[in-house]
This record gives sequence, C-alpha cells and structure tokens, in this order.
Amino acid sequence: MLPRVSALAAATAAGAGLLGWLTGRYLRGPAAGYTQEREMLAAVADQSADAIIACTLDGTLTVWNSGAEAMYGWLAEEVLGTPFRGILPPGAGPALDQALAVLAAGGHIHLEESRRVRRDGSTLLVSVTVSPIRNEQGVVVAAAATERDITEKRRFEAEERQAMERSVRAARLESLGQLAGGVAHDFNNLLAIILNYADFLADEVTGDGAADLSRIRDAADRARSLTGQLLLFAKREPTQVEVVDLNEVVTGSGELPARTIGADIRLVCRPCGETVPVRANRGRLDQILLNLVINARDAMPDGGVVVVETDLVELRGGSGVPLPQGRYARLTVSDTGTGMTAEVRDRLFEPFFTTKPADRGTGLGLSTVYGIVGDAGGHIGVDSTPGVGTTFRILLPHAAGRADRADGQPLRACPSGDGRRVLVIEDEDYVRDLVVRILQENGYRTTAISEDAVGAADLTDVALLITDVVLPGRSGPTVAAQLRTRCPALRVLFMSGYSDTELRRRYDIPPATRIVQKPFTAVELLATVGEALAPHLVGGLGDQS
Ligand SMILES: Nc1ncnc2c1ncn2[C@@H]1O[C@H](COP(=O)(O)OP(=O)(O)OP(=O)(O)O)[C@@H](O)[C@H]1O
Ligand SMILES: [Mg+2]
Repeated sequence: MLPRVSALAAATAAGAGLLGWLTGRYLRGPAAGYTQEREMLAAVADQSADAIIACTLDGTLTVWNSGAEAMYGWLAEEVLGTPFRGILPPGAGPALDQALAVLAAGGHIHLEESRRVRRDGSTLLVSVTVSPIRNEQGVVVAAAATERDITEKRRFEAEERQAMERSVRAARLESLGQLAGGVAHDFNNLLAIILNYADFLADEVTGDGAADLSRIRDAADRARSLTGQLLLFAKREPTQVEVVDLNEVVTGSGELPARTIGADIRLVCRPCGETVPVRANRGRLDQILLNLVINARDAMPDGGVVVVETDLVELRGGSGVPLPQGRYARLTVSDTGTGMTAEVRDRLFEPFFTTKPADRGTGLGLSTVYGIVGDAGGHIGVDSTPGVGTTFRILLPHAAGRADRADGQPLRACPSGDGRRVLVIEDEDYVRDLVVRILQENGYRTTAISEDAVGAADLTDVALLITDVVLPGRSGPTVAAQLRTRCPALRVLFMSGYSDTELRRRYDIPPATRIVQKPFTAVELLATVGEALAPHLVGGLGDQS
C-alpha cells in the first residue's frame, strides 16, 4: 500500500498521484486532515489548461477540471456521473473497454493522438496519458487522464507539410519548365529551317517528290505544335491577352461534337449568372477547357457526366491557395470517372507524364494547362477520389472591365519589299540565310552582317534592322541601340524563340517594337516586317510606346 504523500512524490508529469488524490476527493468527498499542500495541488490541477479527467473502472466520469470544461464545452456538474464514452467518437466503445482493462491490471496508457468530441459535436485531437488510481489497499479503483488539445498543432503541421509539398512540386515543375523551354527553343530554330526550306522546294518539286515534301511539312507542323505546347508549359510562348468572359468559353464548350466527347458522356455547362471576366488569351482558355474535358472523357470509358461551371470567389487569407487575396474567377470541371491515385495526382502536371497508351496520350495536356494558368496569374487545384471522380478547379484573377469583342484577328497582309533595304543580324547561318532568302524573294534588298561588324556597317538607306534578341556576344537590343546612335530613325524587328513577355522584361523592349517568334513561316515573317515598317510607327526602339 502506498501512503498518499509518497504517491504524490512519485507523481509523473502526467500528474497521476495528484489525480489519484483528486479522484479520491471526488469519490469520497473531503475528509478531515487534508493538508494545505493538497488543497494547493487541487487548485493547480483544477486550473490546468490541460484537461484532467478521471473515471471509475466502469467508465463513469468522476473528475472534470476547468481545463476539461474549456476543451469540451461541458461543465463539471453536467458530465460528472455520466459515461466517459460520451466524449468519444462513435464506435470507440471497444477501444475504451480495452483501455480500462489495461488500467485495471495496473498498466499505463499513452496516446500521441486520440479523437474526442466536443459538446457542439465538433471533433478535437488530444494527446493523452492515462494512469491507474489505487485505493489505500493498492487496488486499482479508477483511471485518471491528462489530455492536451493538439488540434491546432496538427492543423498547423498539416498546413506546413502541404506548403512544403507544394513548393517542392512547384520547384520540380519550374526546373522541368526550364529544360522544356530550352529544348523547345533550340528545336524551333531547326523547325524554322525545315519548314521554310520545304516551302521553297515545294515551288520546284512535282509528283512523288511533292508528296514526300508535303509529308515532311506535315511532320514539321506537328513538331511545331508540340514545341508550342512545351513553350506554353515553360511560359515562354507569346500571347495576345484580352478580357474574356469565362462564361462564353464554357458555353462554347457545349458545342463540342459528340465525336469528341463520346456518345455515353453527358456534358453539363453551368455558367455563372453574372459575367466572369478574366484577362487571358481566348484560344488558350479554349485549350484549357478542351484538355480538361478530354481528360474527363478518357477517365469515363463506360460513360458518365462532365460538369463545367464558372463562378466568382473571394480569396481571403488562410485559403490554402498560393494566390494573393482578392476576387477570382473560378472554372470547375468535374467528372464521374475513374479518379486517380495519390501517385498520379502528384505528377499530374509534369510534361510527358501520362498513364495512357503511347498512341492515346502524350502527357502534355495538363502541363500545358498548368503553364497557361500560371502565366495568367492563376492557380489550378485538383481533388480526386479513385472510383468516384475528379474535380479540377482553376482560379484566374478577376478582370475589372468589360469583355473585349470576340472578333477574329484581322488578317495580316504581306506587303512587298519595294526594294527597301534590310539589315539582318543572326548568328545561326541557316536561319540568317532563310531570312535573307524570304526577304529577297519578296522584293527587299538585304545585307547580312555579323554582330562584330556592326560598328562598320553601312547604314545608307537602311529601312529596317532585323536581329536576333540573343546573340553570342551582345544582346540584339544593345546592337540596335548602338546602330541608332548613328541612325536615330532606324526601325527594328527582333527575332526570338523565347517568349515575348519574358524578353520584353529582360531587355526592356517597349510594347510597340515587334518581335517575330521562331519558328516563323515566310508569311509570318513578311507580315511582321510589314508591320515594323508601317508608316504610323515612329522610330524603332525607345520612342515606340
Ligand atoms: N479527369 C481525370 N481523371 C483521371 N485521371 C486523370 C484526369 N485528368 C488527367 N488524369 C491523369 O493525368 C495524366 C496526365 O494528363 P495529361 O492531360 O497531362 O496527359 P494525357 O491526357 O495522358 O495526354 P495528352 O493530354 O497529352 O493527350 C493522364 O494520363 C491521367 O492518368
Ligand atoms: Mg490529356
């Protein structure tokens, strides 16, 4: 038999001895001879922020301190004498019986995490230490628990973990983007050569040769669209941005032919009641929706429903979405398909990640969507349950103002050169020869020089400088600025395989200065040259705004 004082001395941090005393107090009521020290300990236990709870071996509550009152929302007088299982989630009865048996046999219990129910029905997570309480004969008569509320701590840990996973994923996608962008850029130079020389030959070759040539052209066109997608992912593709009503995009998707969606699949469009303006490229928004709907279709081989919705949401702090607070347009695409595993969800946006057979998917669909959404300052999230379905949610910044008219782009004319002289600077021999040939065949006079020869270049009657933006030694804009010190009215057209936006920022190129994207066709190059030489433009660099 343990005298009470030594039980107190042996008390653990969990306060088992203290609780033993408390239990005795509640079980038997105060008796004469309680020392002042014990009264003080009782006050300490009662004021503890942790819940200190005791119950008899049949699970009836006998101690309930103010910490327990604050944690659970029940007052002591409301719960004392009621079963302990009242604060456990449904189905926890057998575990409680098992725990009481361990305690009755003199064992201790420590749980890092256990679920409880508050008075209002909400659940909380606690860490628990439970010890047996013995009577003066040393027989276990009760159990005492110290519970600490770890709900917030666990929530915080989960948020931190998610933020960490998100940033690791973002870093992985960023480096893949750099790689993909670099590869696509180099390929674009090669494709410019293949496409254009195939076009030159097409004028000279007939019969079988022409058919072979058109196959080469088709393959190069497909390759061009692949590098285009890669550049979209890498955010290096230029884009014309306008204010678009997301509702129009969604309504447009309702017209997707059954051939695309499949006969067993129902497409339900639910545009929001008010307009949902976003600043984006219309074609790319269509592309996002098409990719998501086709993925949904592929996930429903036995048919199902795809719901496409738009609405407006207000993001506040702590939303868990890595975007600034504010108003956003939301596009939601849900399906009743196969759903996906955590592994698939983790790699979803990586380029070339696909679970489809080689002839069905390239794995570029979602990486393209990811790039477009990120470029537009938005965010894409996914919820998926295997066997139930998948929901993609895209948030795009709400654009103040009205949607621009959805008129098509005016067709650009290809004016003739009329003997005007163009200075060409491009370090890639094949690309330079190509540009020179296209220009000469269309009435321009050309002078190709290397960047080293810029200082000595004859600028007499030069109407336009065409230069690559990234040259081996200096940048195209630096070379252009040097030439303009001698010829201030010189107009400039840049060529590049990188994105317009990124280049303009990096080299401080004003919006009115034209950049022609590689790979360009002859028509595209000539149209942009025509624009750069248009009479309403003044100068070529700094004074174009
Ligand atoms: N709605 C969905 N339900 C289930 N799995 C999906 C869904 N959308 C995407 N996935 C999974 O994500 C993978 C990657 O999708 P992504 O669109 O990037 O490429 P893909 O559809 O396989 O090929 P591609 O789009 O280039 O033709 C898919 O292969 C599929 O496993
Ligand atoms: Mg896809």
